[in-house]
Amino acid sequence: MYWLWKLGLTSLFCLIFVADGEYLIGLGSYDMTGPAADVNMMGYANMEQVTAGIHFRLRARAFIVAETQQGGARFAFVNLDAGMASQLVTIKLLQRLKLRYGDLYNEHNVAISGTHTHAGPGGYLQYVTYSVTSLGFVPQSFEALVTAVELSIAQAHDNLKPGSIFINTGDLENAGINRSPSAYLFNPPEERARYPRDVDTLMTLLKFVDKNSGNSVGAFTWFATHGTSMSRDNKLISGDNKGAAARFFEDWFGGSNINASTTINKRPNSLSKMLKKASKIKATGGQECPKNASQSSKVRNYDGSRFIGAFCQSNVGDVSPNVLGAFCLDSGKPCDFNHSSCHGNDQLCVGRGPGYPDEILSTKIIGERQFQKAVDLFTSAEEEITGKIDYRLVYLNFTNIEVILEGNQVVKTCPAALGPGFAAGTTDGPGVFGFQQGDTEINEFWKKVRDAIKEPSQYQVDCQKPKTVLLDTGEMFWPYAWAPAILPIQILRLGKLVILSVPGEFTTMAGRRLREAIKETLISNGNGEFGNDTHIVIAGLSNTYSQYIATFEEYKQQRYEAASTLYGPHTLSAYVQEFKKLAQAMARGNKTVGKGPSPPDLSSVQISFVLDPSGDSPPPGVKFGDVNQDVKSGSFKKGDRINVTFWSANPRYDLLAEGTFAVVEILRGGKWAPVYDDDDFCLYFMWNQKFDASGSYGFATIEWEVPEEASPGVYRFRHYGSFKKTRDSPIHYFTGASSGFTVS
Ligand SMILES: *[C@@H]1O[C@H](CO)[C@@H](O)[C@H](O)[C@H]1NC(C)=O
Ligand SMILES: *[C@@H]1O[C@H](CO)[C@@H](O)[C@H](O)[C@H]1NC(C)=O
Ligand SMILES: *[C@@H]1O[C@H](CO)[C@@H](O)[C@H](O)[C@H]1NC(C)=O
Ligand SMILES: *[C@@H]1O[C@H](CO)[C@@H](O)[C@H](O)[C@H]1NC(C)=O
Ligand SMILES: *[C@@H]1O[C@H](CO)[C@@H](O)[C@H](O)[C@H]1NC(C)=O
Ligand SMILES: *[C@@H]1O[C@H](CO)[C@@H](O)[C@H](O)[C@H]1NC(C)=O
Ligand SMILES: *[C@@H]1O[C@H](CO)[C@@H](O)[C@H](O)[C@H]1NC(C)=O
Repeated sequence: MYWLWKLGLTSLFCLIFVADGEYLIGLGSYDMTGPAADVNMMGYANMEQVTAGIHFRLRARAFIVAETQQGGARFAFVNLDAGMASQLVTIKLLQRLKLRYGDLYNEHNVAISGTHTHAGPGGYLQYVTYSVTSLGFVPQSFEALVTAVELSIAQAHDNLKPGSIFINTGDLENAGINRSPSAYLFNPPEERARYPRDVDTLMTLLKFVDKNSGNSVGAFTWFATHGTSMSRDNKLISGDNKGAAARFFEDWFGGSNINASTTINKRPNSLSKMLKKASKIKATGGQECPKNASQSSKVRNYDGSRFIGAFCQSNVGDVSPNVLGAFCLDSGKPCDFNHSSCHGNDQLCVGRGPGYPDEILSTKIIGERQFQKAVDLFTSAEEEITGKIDYRLVYLNFTNIEVILEGNQVVKTCPAALGPGFAAGTTDGPGVFGFQQGDTEINEFWKKVRDAIKEPSQYQVDCQKPKTVLLDTGEMFWPYAWAPAILPIQILRLGKLVILSVPGEFTTMAGRRLREAIKETLISNGNGEFGNDTHIVIAGLSNTYSQYIATFEEYKQQRYEAASTLYGPHTLSAYVQEFKKLAQAMARGNKTVGKGPSPPDLSSVQISFVLDPSGDSPPPGVKFGDVNQDVKSGSFKKGDRINVTFWSANPRYDLLAEGTFAVVEILRGGKWAPVYDDDDFCLYFMWNQKFDASGSYGFATIEWEVPEEASPGVYRFRHYGSFKKTRDSPIHYFTGASSGFTVS
């Protein structure tokens, strides 16, 4: 057989070998919640939005697919409940994967994509623009992320076994609207006429089935809608609508937990009996506990056997989950169409989710819509994937790519820069500097401010037109680079599914142009291997982050997405041109694509102003884990909100990864069993600190909104935490439980 390989017929050989649609598949998942106090959230660039608790946990979810023959191709795809992927996370991850697996997983065949939640801890990106509001780099956020990606891949790797993969697609109509419809209208009418809507409604789903057991082990979906159901004022860590969809999907398949939904008592006790029992249960007081006690109280088991459901981001640039539209806070009328402002004020124009004004409800509804669609596609998926696994990656210096347009006109991309529309923010989160979307001029005052920071070169000013340069990030290098220059683009192929990993947020039309160009390139170069049934999916915010990519026409209006299109008017054309080269190489089986310039590792120059907590002590006579404000006694019903507050320490001493800060326990057969934890949508862990003359004290409030499926019974709250007395003293773990209460 050796001569066959030698003759370069490898690809033909692979095709025959895997023609029965069989792959090795492995899925994995790991907790990446990060610091639940004091850390600025990534997304809205709102300095006041710092973490103060957890709504539900963030996870990294990974799948690996491999051809079955010895040395067959494989790739790993990881979906993060994070604002975006980060170059530095990718670099560190690859170093760790190298230590574990040698060259098996590398920059070419690993893709990391962010869901774009705006409710996760920030400070994990390596360029200045993305760490201004987080007061620099936050090692704890970074470490939580890298570890979670690494361990999710390790779990997927350990899980690799023979399996089949199915693909299905369908439309989801009410989970996104275009938040810059006036910019979309700049696209040519004949192009717009080809599409029913100004957003993409297609969801693509992959279903993974274990060959031996016949059981489904997970599903990954791609659909474009922003992770901005939670607002810029929210302080609870949340996976936003995609994280919620994943939680619902996994619970739908795997059962959220057996203990919550089964009534072990055949004949439930009468209410008066339960009340009597509950009234005898007093708060335990704070107690020391083992390091991993909270992990043992976890309701869901993520040992690798659990079904994994992931909701990945796509060409999300101009797509908002706030589907009711944007309205003026003062008048209640729709905002100005071209500028998304209200009589000149951008801050008054805010988008409304379907649960308006309840952002948690909006998150739930948009999450549920994606989840329901995924269930439809999952249960009806019949089209099995067969054929080759393949991948290509190249790094490009986007500062000066020469782009050959139709008619052989040669243009160039520019060094990165942001326009005033960037500072205006969006209807999902308006900016605070008095700019409006669509602004192409800046006043003398802001010009002076800009020039004091960095006066753009004349080359840059001309290159970026019609954008006016507000922040010349591509020419700012103090104290280190403000924006990326080197970006990776990547193509992953799994049979008839082709995934395009893009390092940013393509607008709807930008994404369509890229997908169509690549499909056409693959078909015309692929020797029959690709056809009309090839599915092209854009994996947004992947591998590194470089903000937005609007079309050349949208760029003319300079709304937020265009003002944040870093490399000038021809940014999209450069992507299309370079992706086409990569697609051509893949379709023709050319393995010798040059890798391009490697991105820098800026870890050694990062600056960090967020301090670790420096030691916590409770006031005299109090122990951590003691109840501060006990739960109201009595009986509660479904829909009630019940809370308790404990004396507690900063949740950053130990992040309790794969554990929990908050538990609802039920009394069964004389024993307490955990039934809800801080990964449940109905349970809130809230952290705050109060200052008085004698010092500053931390409080953990746990609130439970009793869900429909809760069984009647006797319950209590439990809190887990950890502390150090001083920065350098050893860590202690504690727990405490509230008094009992009844749900009838
Ligand atoms: C907790 O730690 C103990 C002792 O190290 C170990 O036996 C147990 O399996 C651990 N439990 C969990 C849930 O990790
Ligand atoms: C928006 O701007 C376009 C041109 O840029 C103009 O034709 C249109 O009338 C404007 N619409 C409104 C409602 O102001
Ligand atoms: C990218 O290209 C520009 C222009 O040639 C060059 O000045 C810059 O050093 C390059 N950036 C990196 C990180 O290599
Ligand atoms: C693909 O679709 C196009 C447009 O619908 C059609 O013209 C073409 O014949 C199709 N090609 C194949 C191979 O089915
Ligand atoms: C493969 O790609 C390299 C680099 O882009 C190019 O020089 C070479 O001509 C290509 N080979 C084929 C057979 O297309
Ligand atoms: C806790 O519940 C009480 C009613 O028992 C309510 O007054 C209080 O506002 C709640 N606290 C929080 C933080 O929700
Ligand atoms: C259910 O509760 C029992 C204790 O009553 C515990 O042993 C078991 O692990 C729990 N199961 C789940 C899935 O949480």
